[in-house]
Amino acid sequence: MIHFNNAGAALPPKVVTDTVLQYTAHEALIGGYEAAEAAAAEIRSTYDALATLLGARPHQIALIENATRAWDMAFYGLPLERGDRILTCRSEYASNFLAYLQVSRRRGVVVDVIPDNEYGEVDTDAAARLLDEDVKLISITHVPTNGGLVNPAATIGQLARSAGCYYLLDACQSVGQMPIDVAAIGCDFLSSTGRKFLRGPRGTGFLYASERALSEVEPPFIDGRAATWTAADTFELRGDARRFENWEFNCATRIGLGVAARYAATIGPESIWQRVQSLAGRLRARLKEIPDVTVRDRGRTQCGIVSFLCQGIGPEGVKAALARKRINVSVTDAAWTRIDMDARGIPALVRASVHYYNSEKEVDAFTAAVTAIVAGSEATSPD
Ligand SMILES: Cc1ncc(COP(=O)(O)O)c(C=O)c1O
Repeated sequence: MIHFNNAGAALPPKVVTDTVLQYTAHEALIGGYEAAEAAAAEIRSTYDALATLLGARPHQIALIENATRAWDMAFYGLPLERGDRILTCRSEYASNFLAYLQVSRRRGVVVDVIPDNEYGEVDTDAAARLLDEDVKLISITHVPTNGGLVNPAATIGQLARSAGCYYLLDACQSVGQMPIDVAAIGCDFLSSTGRKFLRGPRGTGFLYASERALSEVEPPFIDGRAATWTAADTFELRGDARRFENWEFNCATRIGLGVAARYAATIGPESIWQRVQSLAGRLRARLKEIPDVTVRDRGRTQCGIVSFLCQGIGPEGVKAALARKRINVSVTDAAWTRIDMDARGIPALVRASVHYYNSEKEVDAFTAAVTAIVAGSEATSPD
C-alpha cells in the first residue's frame, strides 16, 4: 500500500513498535510498577530525546496523552480574565478554537482572529497592529490540519516577546517534519503529538514550557504528580514541566515516543525537512498537471501536506476510490478549521501527506491513480 496519511498517523519505525511490544510483554510478566522501576532510565530518556529535538531542556518537557490535552494544560492554566484578548489565526485547529469560545463564554475573554496575508499565512503586520496591552495571549497553529501552509512562528514569537504576552504554539503537525527550535520561535508553550510526523506510538503527546511559563503558570488541575501534599492544608507544586502531567501513564508508549524522537534526531530534522518538501513539491506539481484537479495549499513555505479537490468527485469519494487501490489519504472537513474553510468556501479537502520514507515512485503511482479517478472510471460513489 501507499501511505500518504502521515499527517493522520505516520508508520512507526520497527524499533518503535518492537520497543512498545517488548515493554508491554515485560510488564505482563513482572508487574506494571516493577517494570516501570526497572525502565526508569528509559522513561527519563524520553524527556532528554524530546528536549534535544526541540532545543529545550529536559525539565521543560511534559509527557501528556495527546497534543490536545497538552495544549489544554497550558491554555486553561493561563490567568485570562474578562476583557483580556487572545489573538489567533484563521487556520486555527477546531479543538483550540472551541477552548477560546468556551473561555470567552465563561470569562468574557475576547478572541480576535489575525487576518491572513496574500499568501494565506498569518499576517504578521496585521498581528502587530492588533497588539495592545489587553492582549494576554497569542496562540496559533504552526502547520494547520487542512493543508501545506507553514505559519511564520518565529516572527509571531518576536511580536509576543515585544508585547510581553504569552505565546502558545500548536506544533502538532510540524514536529518531526521540520527542524523546531523553541528558543528561535520564542514561544512560552509548544504542544505536539507523537503519532504524526514524529512516527511515535498513538496516544502520546507532549508540552514544552519556557522558564517564564514554569515560573508563572499553574496547571488548570493538579494531582499527585503535579504537586506534593506537604501537610493537611498545604501542597507544593512541582517546579518542572511535569506539573502539567498525569500521575498515571502508559509506560510502553512513553518509552516508544523517546525511541521515535531519537530516531528522528539520528536521521536529522534538516534532512527530513528537505526530503519531505521535495516529495510534496513533486506531488503538488504532478497533481497540478491533472485536468480537473485543484491543489489548495497556501503559504510561501509549504510542507508535506498536500490538499486538493477533484472536479465532480467529493473528497470522500476520492478517498474511497484511492483506498480501493490500497492508497491511504484522509479527508479534512470544514469543522476542523472552520474560519479558514468557510472563508474559502471549501466544505472538505483531500489531504495527502508524505513522509521521508515515501518515494518518488509512490508519488507518481499516486498521481496516476488520481488521474484515473477523475477520468471517471474509478469512483463509484461520488459525494
Ligand atoms: C493542528 C493540530 N492540532 C492539534 C491536533 C490534535 O492532536 P491530538 O489528536 O494528538 O490531540 C491535530 C490533529 O490532527 C492538529 O492537526
